[in-house]
Amino acid sequence: MRGIWLLLLLSLAGNAWAMDLPEADSEAARLFAARCSACHALPHPKRLDWPHWRHMLRVMKRRIEERGVDMEGAEWRQIAAYLRRHAR
Ligand code: HEC
Repeated sequence: MRGIWLLLLLSLAGNAWAMDLPEADSEAARLFAARCSACHALPHPKRLDWPHWRHMLRVMKRRIEERGVDMEGAEWRQIAAYLRRHAR
């Protein structure tokens, strides 16, 4: 029983909304959290400034395509705009 609570706590701690995302209830934040935590922990938008995010997004697009995952342009644009609004 104790193990279950520990697991629950750990999964909450690793979760996007435990991270205090800006615009936490928005579609853009939801997309960012869903798409950008598939391979590693979700980076906080304040981690980088916009020029670095723009570069990083190009690299991540390549990483995602290498996995054979297709992401809609509209989703990318939302995530990019979101990071631009909340970059360092
Ligand atoms: C398909 C797996 C995958 C997805 C999905 C993914 N990444 Fe990454 N990410 C990586 C890999 C692999 C690295 C390590 C550096 C490299 O290989 O380019 C990385 C590194 C990073 C880094 C730099 C490392 C750091 O901790 O500062 C950032 C920032 C980042 N990713 C942001 C994002 C964002 C934003 C998204 C969503 C658009 C995203 N990633 C989605 C695979 C992924």
